[in-house]
Amino acid sequence: MNYKQLLASQLEGKLEGVDTGAIADLIEYPPNPQMGDLSMPCFRLSKQLRKAPQAIAEGLAASWQEHPAVLRVEAISGYFNVFLQPGHVASSVIGEILEQNERYGSQNIGQGRNIVIDFSSPNIAKTFHIGHLRSTMIGNAIYKIHEFLGYNCIGINHLGDWGTQFGKLIVAYKQWGEESTVEAEGIGELQRLYIKFHDEAEQKPELEDEARSMFVQLEQGDEEAIKLWKWFVAISLKEFEKMYELLGVSFDSYTGESFYNDKMAAIVEELKEKKLLEEDEGAQLVRLDAFNMPPALMLKKDGGTLYHTRDVTAAVYRQQTYDFEKCIYVTDAGQSLHFQQWFKVIELMGYGWHDKLVHVPFGKVSLEGAKLSTRKGNVVRLEELLTLAIEKTKEIIEQKNPNLENKAETAQEVGVGAIIFSDLSNNRVKDIVFSWEDALNFEGETGPYVQYTHARASSVLRKAGDRVAGEQLPLKLNEQDAALLDQPTEQALLKQLYYFKERLEQAMQKLEPSIVSRYLVDLAQSFNRFYHECPILVEDAALRQARLAVVRSTQITIHNGLALIGLKAPEKM
Ligand code: ARG
Repeated sequence: MNYKQLLASQLEGKLEGVDTGAIADLIEYPPNPQMGDLSMPCFRLSKQLRKAPQAIAEGLAASWQEHPAVLRVEAISGYFNVFLQPGHVASSVIGEILEQNERYGSQNIGQGRNIVIDFSSPNIAKTFHIGHLRSTMIGNAIYKIHEFLGYNCIGINHLGDWGTQFGKLIVAYKQWGEESTVEAEGIGELQRLYIKFHDEAEQKPELEDEARSMFVQLEQGDEEAIKLWKWFVAISLKEFEKMYELLGVSFDSYTGESFYNDKMAAIVEELKEKKLLEEDEGAQLVRLDAFNMPPALMLKKDGGTLYHTRDVTAAVYRQQTYDFEKCIYVTDAGQSLHFQQWFKVIELMGYGWHDKLVHVPFGKVSLEGAKLSTRKGNVVRLEELLTLAIEKTKEIIEQKNPNLENKAETAQEVGVGAIIFSDLSNNRVKDIVFSWEDALNFEGETGPYVQYTHARASSVLRKAGDRVAGEQLPLKLNEQDAALLDQPTEQALLKQLYYFKERLEQAMQKLEPSIVSRYLVDLAQSFNRFYHECPILVEDAALRQARLAVVRSTQITIHNGLALIGLKAPEKM
């Protein structure tokens, strides 16, 4: 049951000229139960209806027609407040959750339309750092939330597998590299060679020219260059995939920057035909002065392509291939200008779909004071971070629950979950400072806390199973039994459970996974208040069943919410 819609349709026709959709958008959930379960702030309509807010509210109250879901209404201080029938809410929410189970919260808003999500997209031969983790986890959550709401998602890992840096790397490898060392140490060694190149080039600037021409050779398909490049890609992918496996993330396509090599000439040609290209000291660029932006560089003077060229080409390709409703790019906010620039180029090319391109920026992460630079090599390696998280979690579990059966698996789910959750718990554009104490605190607003709450609910259900031997949880709760759930903590929890669907919709619209993680913390807190105040395994069979249904509903909702942001929900921990 959608109570906002119910109220909106009850009010339809009573607010002249305001349609049901607009009414539904105005309805609020009051922060305090004394002010009702739903509320219409009439001052928002005052101007349009040319009436005082209180008069509008009183008009609505006077013409109110009774409805079985509604207990009473009131007009107070310009608000029209609606108090729902507690038994109605309880039986409808619980009924929906128990019936839909792992689909609870899902909808078919997208009707199968395509959403392309370009995320993670690390660079070959460079460490997968904590910034890429943010892109990976934010992108993954956006992907899962859209899928759950009925879209068909295409997750693309736009690997940074092309560009002048490969010219540098090949030159560096040929001068100072060793096959066996690269095989043994992987990206670490490639990164070392890359740094060495920059150090040496400070003394010998001709190295830069060598690297540039090496990249041109690569672009022209030189056999040896291609072979080395492919090898660097394979070595890097092996390491990235280990990370994705640990994080539980997968992609539908690994079309990285190099995939567009043979597609860029046509785009450059098209830009020329459309008279958008201008020559500047031998380079080709699109001027964006009129839009207060620096020009978008499309070809360097040696003919080499750039990040912009590849992004414009990829967008055209994706539009043709997937006819997307949205194409979403998840990167750090430092790249915002880059996206604004080339989105504008697509618009100037006359493509009507330019407004379907969406950049989803996020803030920086710093770790206990350390800076995350890619050039100098003092990057925080994600692998180390995750390994440490798992170890630390193992220690905590060892103290809290030494007899747990599958400690290793649980430590992984909780340790990795802690990192992911801390990454997703703030508005994505905010910069965050990562702290171990905060992330792993089982009592804080953390992943482990939400997971622990899920395990607690699971444990209650297990105990109940022993106790009521064979007695199945009802799949429905009739209104009469549901009305037994009249304690304030029960009412508050039921409301939280009800909010899930709407929060998911908001998270999708705002492309903001933190709406889900914050919701889960609220839900877990609400459950724990209920758990401490309301004994569950009581003698009264009807009350026991009703409360068990609440526990089961919470367990399902936490499980679904965690899955959408990429966390596992262990049953024991
Ligand atoms: N490889 C880039 C980086 O690590 C991110 C690529 C984002 N996607 C894109 N289509 N530009 O910063």
